[in-house]
Amino acid sequence: MRINHRGKTRYLRVNSDPRQDTGESHVPVPFYVSSRGYGVLVNTSRIVTIYCGSCVRRNHKSVSVTRDRNTDPMWQATPESDSVEIVIPTTGVELFVFAGKSMLDVVKRYNLFCGGGALPPRWGLGFWHRVPSYYDAKQVIQEAMEYRKREFPCDVIGLEPGWHSSSYPATYEWSKERFPKPEKFVETMDKEGFKINLWERPYVSPHSKIYSALERLSGSHSVWGGLVPDYSLREVREIVKEQHRKEHVDIGVSGYKIDECDGSELTNHSWMFPAHAIFPSGHDGEQMRQVYGLMLQQTMLEMFRERDRRTYGLVRASMAGASSMPYVLYSDLYDHRQFVRALCNASFCGLLWTPEVRGAKSAEEWVRRMQVVCFSPLAMLNAWADGTKPWSYPEVEHIIRKYINLRMRLMPYFYSAFARYYFDGTPPFRAMQLELKCDLNKWDVDGLDDQYMAGDSLLVAPLFAGETHRDVFLPQGVWYDFETGERFEGGKTIRVSAGLDKIPLFVRDGGIIPMMPALPHAPRRGEKVPLEIRHYGTAPGSFNLFDDDGETFAYERGRYRLITLKVTVDKNGNRHGDVQGLEGTWESSYSDFV
Ligand code: GAL
Repeated sequence: MRINHRGKTRYLRVNSDPRQDTGESHVPVPFYVSSRGYGVLVNTSRIVTIYCGSCVRRNHKSVSVTRDRNTDPMWQATPESDSVEIVIPTTGVELFVFAGKSMLDVVKRYNLFCGGGALPPRWGLGFWHRVPSYYDAKQVIQEAMEYRKREFPCDVIGLEPGWHSSSYPATYEWSKERFPKPEKFVETMDKEGFKINLWERPYVSPHSKIYSALERLSGSHSVWGGLVPDYSLREVREIVKEQHRKEHVDIGVSGYKIDECDGSELTNHSWMFPAHAIFPSGHDGEQMRQVYGLMLQQTMLEMFRERDRRTYGLVRASMAGASSMPYVLYSDLYDHRQFVRALCNASFCGLLWTPEVRGAKSAEEWVRRMQVVCFSPLAMLNAWADGTKPWSYPEVEHIIRKYINLRMRLMPYFYSAFARYYFDGTPPFRAMQLELKCDLNKWDVDGLDDQYMAGDSLLVAPLFAGETHRDVFLPQGVWYDFETGERFEGGKTIRVSAGLDKIPLFVRDGGIIPMMPALPHAPRRGEKVPLEIRHYGTAPGSFNLFDDDGETFAYERGRYRLITLKVTVDKNGNRHGDVQGLEGTWESSYSDFV
C-alpha cells in the first residue's frame, strides 16, 4: 500500500491476501496523519471506509472545472477533492484528533495515547532463525549449534507448526514424537543462549485438552475444523493462559508467533469465519476479524506480564491501539520493495514490521534482503519452508556475517531507540516523511518509500537485487557515510553506488552511535558489556543510552537509567566525550565507555 493515500478510497478490512490496493491489509488501522499536522483515529472494531479526497461533493469549493474526456488530456477518472469522508457503519463511535507541529509530533502523541511504544527484551533485538516445520528437538539443537560453530550471532530459534501434536487446527501441546522432553529441550537451548519462540494459530483442535472448556465460549463457525474462541471473554483468556503457562512459559518459552489470525479469500486458499458468525459475547464475525490479532497479542502479553518477563514475538494481524504490543508484523507476500514500504508505513500508526528473509533467487538477492532485515525491528531468517541458513550462499557468507554481526554490535543503539519509543513515542524505525522538517510539498512525498530512519541518527537506503546505485534523499544538514565517514551535504537527493558488501547507511552530523562487541547472543541480566562510542562529524551531540535489566518490567517501576553520552566541540574543533548518569549506586550493564 502506498504511503500517500490522497485521491484513494480505503476499505479497511483485515485481510492477508488483498488482490488489489484497496486498503485491505494485515493491519488496516483507521488512523491517518495529515501533512498539515494532525491525525484522526476512528475507534471502532467495524470496517471503516475512508474517502481520502476521493469523493467530490457538488458544492465543494476546490472542484471547479468539469473536463471533457473527448477533448481534454487533463481529464481524470477520479477527480480529487480536499475533504476526507469517513463511513462508519455503526453509531456511538469515538473519533480522536491528534494535533502536532509536525507529522512526527502527531504520531508520537498517538503512540503515547496507546500506552507508549513497545520495549522488547534485549535478546529480542538479536538475530532470529526459524527452523523448518517438521524438525525434531535434535535437529533444532544441531541447527542452532551450527550458528555457534560458524560464529554467527543468534538469540532466538523459532519453531514452526511441527512442534504441536497437531497444528492445523492447533493443540498447543508438544508433539511427543518430535519433542518428547520439552523441558529438557528448552533448558538445553537456554544454556547455549537461545530463546525459544513458538508458532501458533488461534483455531483450537478437537484433540487439544482445552477444547471442551472452550466449546461453549467459541463462535458459531469453525476454521479448518477448529474452534474460534471468543477472546473478548475473560474466561477464554484465562483458560488459554493457564494452558500456555504450564506447557510453555513456565518451562522457559520466550514468546509466540501468532499466525493466520488475519483471514484470506484467495480462490484456492480461503479460510476465515464469516462476517455473520456469532460469538457468545454478542460480537459478530466482522468485529472479531478486525480485532482478533489485537486480542491475541493482549492475552499473550498479559501472561508474560504476570510473570514479570518481557516477551517479543510476531503477529500477522493487528489493529489501532497496538503501539505498546511487543509484536512485529510479517507477511507471506515476498516483494522486497513492498516489504521496505511496509516497514515505513508501519511507523505512522504504532506498528512494527519485519521484512523477513526466507529464500532468494540469487546470492545477490540473498545479501540485499539480509542487509535490510538487519536494519529492522526484528532481524529474522524464516526458513520454515526453504530450509535456508545464513551460510546458504557460501560465496557471500562473509557479507552476511558482517551484517548479522553489525546488528549485534548496534544493540545498545537500537535498544535505546526502542526505549525512546516507550518514553516519547518516536518510532524506532520510521518513514522519511516523519523526519522531514521542511515543507513536505517540496519533496516527492509519494516516492520516498524505499529509505528510512533507524534510531535517532541513522538513515538506511537499501539497494535491491539488480541495482548497483540508487538515489537517496538526505534531509537538511550534513550527513556521513557510516563506514567511510565520507561527508555529504543534505537537503537534496544524491546518487550513491555500493558494491554487494554494502548497504548505504548515513549518519547525521553530530550523531552518536554506541556499539558493543558482536557477542554470540545478547547479554543476559546482570552481564556487563563494553561500549565503543562513535561520534560522526563536527557538530556536538548527545545520546540517551537506556540501561536496565533488559528482561523484566522493572523499568516501568522506575528501575532504569538514562545515561547521557555527550560530545562537545571546543573552538579549535577538538571533540570531548563525556558520560553522565552513572553516579550513585546504579549497577550499569555497560562498561568501558570508549
Ligand atoms: C504461514 C506463515 C509462515 C509459516 C507457515 C507455516 O501462514 O506466514 O511464516 O509460519 O504459515 O505453516
